[in-house]
Amino acid sequence: MAHKILVTGGTGYIGSHTTVELINAGYEVVIIDNLSNSNVKVLDGIEKITGVRPAFVEGDCTDLATLDRLFKEHPGIDGIINFAASKAVGESVQRPLLYYRNNLVTLINLLEEMPANGVKGIVFSSSCTVYGEPDVNPIDETAPIKEATSPYGNTKQISEEIIRDFVASGAPVKSILLRYFNPVGAHPSAEIGELPNGVPNNLVPYLTQTAAGIRKELTIFGDDYNTPDGTCIRDFIDVTDLAKAHVIAMKRMLDGEDTRAVEVFNLGTGNGLSVLQLINAFEHATGVKVPHKIGARREGDIEKIWADPKKANEVLGWKAEMDIEDTMRNAWRWQCKLGK
Ligand code: NAD
Ligand code: UFG
Repeated sequence: MAHKILVTGGTGYIGSHTTVELINAGYEVVIIDNLSNSNVKVLDGIEKITGVRPAFVEGDCTDLATLDRLFKEHPGIDGIINFAASKAVGESVQRPLLYYRNNLVTLINLLEEMPANGVKGIVFSSSCTVYGEPDVNPIDETAPIKEATSPYGNTKQISEEIIRDFVASGAPVKSILLRYFNPVGAHPSAEIGELPNGVPNNLVPYLTQTAAGIRKELTIFGDDYNTPDGTCIRDFIDVTDLAKAHVIAMKRMLDGEDTRAVEVFNLGTGNGLSVLQLINAFEHATGVKVPHKIGARREGDIEKIWADPKKANEVLGWKAEMDIEDTMRNAWRWQCKLGK
């Protein structure tokens, strides 16, 4: 019988793409989302792509009673993928308690529900932000965890520790911590993609909105970094590639014989691309110009970080496959669908 998976935050950006890949792989999906940063219409997009409409619970994971009800109404959930979280770095500095409450209470509630409901494993959305500014690149999973530079980043570090402590206490659950680098792009069908709220903070949605004429110009935050072209370097990972890694991680936890109780994997391409190189890739892929100017550095930005994904490549048998220009074409198709 197909495993039943609870996807928290499943109408969000990465959650919706992962739901598509889970359904395509034969899993049954139940989504819980409070729609604080997504739209219920995302379910239509998922259905158009897969032909299946996942079960949907509109609810808040910080409310234990809601989760109790969910597990009663949807018995037999084998695994959880926990995407539900608040994720704006800047906002987390302004409103730290909101971030600690939402991200940590959500996780604690889910962990608490697992043994009682026979849920065997949880995949957790972590971030390369736990490494801070790396001493060396590419960075692998053995690199030290550096002091967090924002409450958001701190919730990821604390969440990883909470999971490790819970499993170490003898709780009958497994976990895979996935440290994402910079997820970008949209589903090739343009039925789902990123839905930024207000003025985007992240590079790619700002870039596509500028290309669409919604924003006048893109400001590159600093060109005086110690990098070949002076702009920051990131590891931009296609969101569908990223989504596929979750399916493999889930299978490993639920069906694998000899997996360790807690495992951690970097999810990146292994290639660093500068902000300017990414803009060039977009322009080359789409033929659309992106007006841009150089501005001041953004406080708290890491100069350069890219993944050593060898462990995920070898242990999970997962590899990022998408070409960055294809990813940029998908991002642009999605922006065009959203409107100009
Ligand atoms: P997103 O905001 O698009 O998705 C998160 C979803 O969770 C949203 O639909 C939101 O409505 C929902 N949600 C938030 N709090 C909730 C709660 N208490 N109960 C129920 N639903 C709730 O974000 P995303 O980019 O898809 O990120 C998913 C996960 O990956 C997050 O945990 C994020 O921190 C992590 N992550 C994202 C990135 C990135 O750059 N996008 C990088 C590293 C890690
Ligand atoms: N950038 C610009 N102009 C913009 C927006 C971004 O030049 O308008 C630059 C930034 O300075 C940075 C790069 O583009 O050098 C990438 O910035 P993003 O905001 O897109 O991404 P970050 O690497 O800062 O952070 C993202 C998520 C975090 C997450 C981290 C690692 O926002 O939540 O990736 O996964 F923790």
